Amino acid sequence: SHDASPYVPEHADLAGLSRAAAGCRGCPLYADATQTVFGEGEPSARVVLVGETPGDQEDRQGRPFVGPAGRLLDRALEEAGIARDDAYVTNAVKHFKFTVSGGGKRRLHKTPSAREMAACRPWLLAELQVIDPEVIVVLGATAGKALLGPDFRVTRQRGRLLPCPPPETLGTRRAARAVEEGDPATAPARIVATVHPSAVLRSDDREAMYAGMVEDLRVAAQALG
Ligand code: URA
Ligand code: SF4
Repeated sequence: SHDASPYVPEHADLAGLSRAAAGCRGCPLYADATQTVFGEGEPSARVVLVGETPGDQEDRQGRPFVGPAGRLLDRALEEAGIARDDAYVTNAVKHFKFTVSGGGKRRLHKTPSAREMAACRPWLLAELQVIDPEVIVVLGATAGKALLGPDFRVTRQRGRLLPCPPPETLGTRRAARAVEEGDPATAPARIVATVHPSAVLRSDDREAMYAGMVEDLRVAAQALG
């Protein structure tokens, strides 16, 4: 198969989607990863946060954002005034993509390809359809591209409310155009882009980058009705 769609059950709730995703073979990434890392949170969540791909810890534990990046994200959410119960966290790609280094001891995260993001997108769209959030927060360029298309740039689009394109166009150039033009025919949910928490951890100016992330998340918090 070329993508996840044959594995996505219709009319499933989040638990049903998560169970089905455990058996996904929609792209080659399942082969080397330990397990599928599905999204986590309440179906009533008003904010969905989208990361890139699980990290080493997430792959081992089977839960998103439980490693260092997740701890930073939790802290930033709290500071921005987004309640944990209001936040559903997930990734654009549900299996850990990595290379092995240090004589097989270390597994280093790799950025998923556009093809892998497209293959995994049916899971993300199914999560968004069930939750129907008020705001979607994209964490970094990969998540941004997965939802807003290949022309997405964090630096240009972060920290403001972007219209959310209709689901059938998400991840396409048409979606990118709809956002650029503020297309009125977009869905009611809105998107806020910010940096990826792992980029904050790697930064030479961690404090400034972290403060910028909190500021962006405050834009999302203020948009909640
Ligand atoms: N980075 C991500 O993008 N997602 C995770 O779940 C963990 C780290
Ligand atoms: Fe399926 Fe996504 Fe995993 Fe690929 S990365 S096997 S599409 S769940």
